[in-house]
Amino acid sequence: MELTTEHESAAGGSGDKNPPLPGSRPLRLAVILGTNREGRFGPVIADWFLSRAAGHTDFRADLTDLIDIAELDLPTALSFRPAPAVRAELAKVTPRLAAADAFVVLTPEYNHSFPAPLKSLIDWHFHEWQAKPVGFVSYGGVSGGLRAVEQLRQVFAELHAVTVRDTVSFHRAGAHFDGEGRPKDPTEADAAAKAMLDQLAWWALALREAKSVRPYAA
Ligand SMILES: Cc1cc2nc3c(=O)[nH]c(=O)nc-3n(C[C@H](O)[C@H](O)[C@H](O)COP(=O)(O)O)c2cc1C
Repeated sequence: MELTTEHESAAGGSGDKNPPLPGSRPLRLAVILGTNREGRFGPVIADWFLSRAAGHTDFRADLTDLIDIAELDLPTALSFRPAPAVRAELAKVTPRLAAADAFVVLTPEYNHSFPAPLKSLIDWHFHEWQAKPVGFVSYGGVSGGLRAVEQLRQVFAELHAVTVRDTVSFHRAGAHFDGEGRPKDPTEADAAAKAMLDQLAWWALALREAKSVRPYAA
């Protein structure tokens, strides 16, 4: 496993580092599982990550929504006037993206990039991403999905989203989990997930507070 978290201070400390403002509503997190490949490893990563998010001070399991690309059937042909069937498909996901205060994208790496259906989901939307933070959990072969993440940062910048610095990255992912889907050595992965979620919550609260004072200048 390769973790991009480099600062001890970011990985350590208590979960109280981003206390919500008094009276503010808790954060809604959308976790996007970006693979629909047959026989995919992604659900193992998703189950592990959801347990990390549920254990984080700033996020709640009941307000964390797993959006699984495999459960959507969005066409690659975009349209400003989608057919009724496409509108019905969008209705399954668009309100969930709109409701989120923050996103975490779980992405494998395919041919030095991220999966095509993930790009389709991103491109079908615009305002839903705007002025919100995005964190990443990546996995793959030797690369740990890092090239997929760097490309996603460019895509999300165009959508006025803020990508958080620290990521979680598993290279040769299958080797890092046991048969029950648990990391064989959870220490580093848990610390990396906490660091990323700390930063994600900071940005989510900061952006929400800022938007409550002044509309985002898109
Ligand atoms: C079409 C394809 C291309 C891949 N390309 C890369 C790659 O460029 N770099 C890498 O590290 N791993 C690569 N891999 C390995 C995958 O990232 C790895 O198998 C991962 O578990 C795939 O995620 P999934 O099982 O959830 O679909 C590739 C796998 C596939 C199927």
